[in-house]
Amino acid sequence: MKLPPSPSALPFVQMLQWIARPMALMEACTRAYGDIFTLQIGKDFAPVVFVSNPQALEEILSNSQHFDAPGEFNEIFQPFLGKHSVISLSGARHQRQRQLLMPPFHGERMRTYGQLIGEVTEQVMTQWSREQPFCVRSSTQAIALRVILKTVFGLDEGSRGQQLEQFLSALLEETSSPYSAAMLYLPALQRDLGPLTPWGKFLRRKQQTDKLLYEEIQERREHFDSSRTDILSLLMAARDEASQPMMDVELRDELMTLLVAGHETTATALAWALYWIHKLPSVREKLIQELDSLGDDSDPSAIFRLPYLNAVCCETLRIYPVAMLTFPRMVKVPVSLMGYDFEPGTVVIGSIYLTHRREDLYPEPEQFKPERFLERQFSAYEYLPFGAGARRCIGLAFAQFEMKVVLAKILSRFELALADNREVRPTRRGLVTAPSGSIRFVVTGERQDKEREAELARSRSLPVG
Ligand code: HEM
Repeated sequence: MKLPPSPSALPFVQMLQWIARPMALMEACTRAYGDIFTLQIGKDFAPVVFVSNPQALEEILSNSQHFDAPGEFNEIFQPFLGKHSVISLSGARHQRQRQLLMPPFHGERMRTYGQLIGEVTEQVMTQWSREQPFCVRSSTQAIALRVILKTVFGLDEGSRGQQLEQFLSALLEETSSPYSAAMLYLPALQRDLGPLTPWGKFLRRKQQTDKLLYEEIQERREHFDSSRTDILSLLMAARDEASQPMMDVELRDELMTLLVAGHETTATALAWALYWIHKLPSVREKLIQELDSLGDDSDPSAIFRLPYLNAVCCETLRIYPVAMLTFPRMVKVPVSLMGYDFEPGTVVIGSIYLTHRREDLYPEPEQFKPERFLERQFSAYEYLPFGAGARRCIGLAFAQFEMKVVLAKILSRFELALADNREVRPTRRGLVTAPSGSIRFVVTGERQDKEREAELARSRSLPVG
């Protein structure tokens, strides 16, 4: 079997390039080889075929006769999420667990979180002041983490929730550097050489987090309340085909999955959205106009339907997708794809990053242009920030909803400006991407004050009597 072309560098060098500069490597490969190429970045440097052609992506992600989406290939997430996470499961167990997890993140159920998202955003905004520039990703991370903690565990405030917030932020911060990513890609580096070494630190932080998760599970088992509607209660009430409940370790892995997958990505997407909105004054103006057109109607469902806000969120996730890749898929039966014959067992992966930068779909792909999404519709394989098919993101609707409510809340309340005019590019952050360096903002005014002043001026100019 002849695989698509690969750079001539040794597999170990390819791996180092992939860890240090994944987007530059993908761009160089697509310039050299086009829509399909191979990188030796799999387990033990096994080849992985990268694809960014929409027709081929449709085949890989949606033809379950030809391609599998095995959880075993997602081993890289296991140090965080464990082997019982939906991400690590395969086949029928994977399907079942998805069916269990999806409803709380969809439709009407999800919309009930609108008020919660608004309140959490308000809480975080109280920490902003005119005097002190702030790092926007820290704020959006606090918002997204608090929202998912409350959704998963219910609405209780408490010291366990606060500790979890603290430990999870620290865990993700400590694993965000390229070296930490290297530890995940190269299991030989996963050695506990004491609490001051990177892997030792990671393991201890994970233990602290697990302890809190198990305590919460234990407490819920002892005081089971069938009226609770949060996601942990739902998971605890679920039974498999043998009428067995989920074991503690399964609950732990699923909670960790939702907490990590459910906030890290959304936090970054929100930080990028705020960056672009304030980098490009015309985008901000149009958005403010659209938000103002809602008048007093701050109903989250109305916000969710705003077309320009939707286009801004779509373009944010297009230009620098937080997830560069889909999860790996595996060839099931001999198949031909883009002129290559693949044997069963071949690993293929969708490059979301490269697909979103195709000139034929997105002219001037480096430019942030929300109008693209008003002018045409893209297929599920041309625009796929949340992947597609058997492993499509279960938090898709939730993340989009959260982005819109948070942005509407912030823009309606504050006038912000970027603290400097620096061009910000994406970089690797753990297994996903994020802005390189800190994007800092300053508060330049409060919109509600302006509205009140305008209201006052209007009332003063009214004829008296
Ligand atoms: C902007 C935010 C987000 C982005 C860009 C994103 C992106 C993705 C992508 C690309 C995948 C892989 C899809 C594939 O291989 O086809 C995925 C899977 C997943 N996402 Fe998200 N995600 C986001 C938010 C969320 C949220 C809020 C949650 C949970 C509440 C979540 C939970 C998951 C889970 C559990 C999976 C694994 C699904 C499976 O294995 O079947 N994500 N996400």
